[in-house]
Amino acid sequence: MEAGRAKDTESAGRFSRVVWVPETGSTNTDLLAVALSGGPEQVLVADAQTAGRGRLGRSWSAPAGASLLCSILVRPELAAADTGLLMMALGVAAVDSVAEVSGCELGLKWPNDLVTSAAGGDRKVSGMLSEGVLDGDRLIAAVLGIGINVNWPDELPDDLAGTATSLRHLAGRDVDRAELLRSLLSHFERRLELEPGELLAAYRSRSATLGRRVRIEESTGFSEAVALDVAADGALVVEDEVGDRRVLHAGDVVHLRPLG
Ligand code: BTN
Repeated sequence: MEAGRAKDTESAGRFSRVVWVPETGSTNTDLLAVALSGGPEQVLVADAQTAGRGRLGRSWSAPAGASLLCSILVRPELAAADTGLLMMALGVAAVDSVAEVSGCELGLKWPNDLVTSAAGGDRKVSGMLSEGVLDGDRLIAAVLGIGINVNWPDELPDDLAGTATSLRHLAGRDVDRAELLRSLLSHFERRLELEPGELLAAYRSRSATLGRRVRIEESTGFSEAVALDVAADGALVVEDEVGDRRVLHAGDVVHLRPLG
């Protein structure tokens, strides 16, 4: 992290400790080290990452200065089994802050993406990654990382051109990343105060996955099903064509077009 060039960014409330740096390896990696050494709740934002990380061991890349690349170190009073609630809170906060600041209506794609269907098929605008520090069955700390594609250039990177887009493409104007961050942190703080049932309801109502036919991609192969529900721990409940139900705790799904 380039601490010398880091700037503090004004933000109120529980997540008022914010540092914004020009470049780092990964904001999640940095805050995980802070979490492990006992550091307090705080937020780290970078204009660019040289080793950005995504879910399932993937890398995360973004044009410099064009995304909101942010990690939040949280120290909640939660059992390890309830970690999914944090991601629900962040997901709901992300949808609402994007709508507030850019006017773009996004949906939550299970487990942790924000997508738009504005251009026909779904395109990814944001991804989230959570990493926890556990002590037995207690969650001591969690680092929640989010990358939002904000002001990407007209020409999208080749490898993402068919699957991703940015708020600038959707809104037709540049979106202020600092304003988006302030809104995100304020919505997130408020969502963390909700009862689990209220949070789940908020998540479900913003879901782009529920009710959809999905392809489930697992190391053992692909299968298709309908997404029926999201459980309190964030698991996805699906039902296949012969009525067998399964509960997916991790992995990826692809939204399929409705039949007929
Ligand atoms: C995914 O969709 O696979 C999750 C992507 C998470 C990316 C963000 S960008 C900020 C934070 N730092 C990282 O290295 N990853 C997360």
